[in-house]
Amino acid sequence: PSRKVIFSGIQPTGVPHLGNYLGALQAWVKLQNEAAPDTKLIYSLVDLHAITVAQSPELLRQHKRQSLAALLAIGLDPERSIIFVQSDVPQHSELMWILSCTASMGYLSRMTQWKSKLNLAPNAKPLESPLQLGLFSYPVLQAADILIHGATHVPVGEDQCQHLELTRTLALGFNERYGPVLTEPETVLSPTKRIMSLVQPDKKMSKSATNPKSRILITDSPDEVTKKIKGALTDSIGGPHTFDPVARPGLANILQLLHSLDHRRIATVEDLTQEFKDVSMKALKDMLADAINKHLEPIRTRYLDLTGGTQAGELDRVAEEGALKARASAEIVMADVRRVVGL
Ligand code: ADP
Ligand code: NA
Repeated sequence: PSRKVIFSGIQPTGVPHLGNYLGALQAWVKLQNEAAPDTKLIYSLVDLHAITVAQSPELLRQHKRQSLAALLAIGLDPERSIIFVQSDVPQHSELMWILSCTASMGYLSRMTQWKSKLNLAPNAKPLESPLQLGLFSYPVLQAADILIHGATHVPVGEDQCQHLELTRTLALGFNERYGPVLTEPETVLSPTKRIMSLVQPDKKMSKSATNPKSRILITDSPDEVTKKIKGALTDSIGGPHTFDPVARPGLANILQLLHSLDHRRIATVEDLTQEFKDVSMKALKDMLADAINKHLEPIRTRYLDLTGGTQAGELDRVAEEGALKARASAEIVMADVRRVVGL
């Protein structure tokens, strides 16, 4: 089929931070707004992935609402994009089981992410907690997420390339055994660099870091943003600013953020560094806080509307409609899969 189908997902772990936004979510909106009319766009809150790490049920429910509100607030349009919660569409799990019947244990054991997830889990004591099957087979569920919708293009960060390769391998293996039912998707690499922690700039900005000052949430107030940027760790190397992510990671992160948000679209972060090389650190941080606040203001306003009661019921309505559309989309491939497998 020549129709383009774009699929991507994010874990519903609460309000996204600036790294999630600049590294992934902003591209989802751009793809939506620039898509040809016949392109199908599907974005999922992958709660079945989230439970590979222990979750409080109450918090998970709350985080799903927050994540959905955030996706709408940044500009995803439920009339244009299918936005849904993964567990509302049972076909994802159904296809995962079928794929796992042909997925190689050896291949899965070479996936690097479950190893890092094991160490990153906030309350995990790696030596006491044995590897869970779900964490190990997570990439097979991810493959099912993509293949069940016949996705042709999957926007992801660099860390996900290995999983996309596995997805194509599983699709190919299935098709060789049963006939051409699954579509091999292309990887669409996110162009944005990693955004780093504001307090430990050699680590990426992350939801799981314990210090809340290390990240900016896309719903932070102007005051919170300004305070966090003011407190961002830089170095005491004097002289003109230089863009050097290895030797000067804090400064590089500030320049990178400024470049990502700069409305004048200076071509490269090096050009931007050259332009501001003699500006004081304080002025640089003020500029950055301003740029972030300008960018986030409409997002924050819409988020507060969606979660604050003035649009009560809107989130439930969007989730329900998204689930209906996603189930219909998934059933197209699932019906073919059941037929060729003999189920
Ligand atoms: P976190 O690491 O905060 O738990 P996720 O793993 O849920 O975030 O990532 C969701 C999406 O955001 C992924 O596409 C990931 O590549 C992207 N992402 C996460 N952190 C960053 C970051 N610091 N810089 C750029 N992109 C990021
Ligand atoms: Na992560």
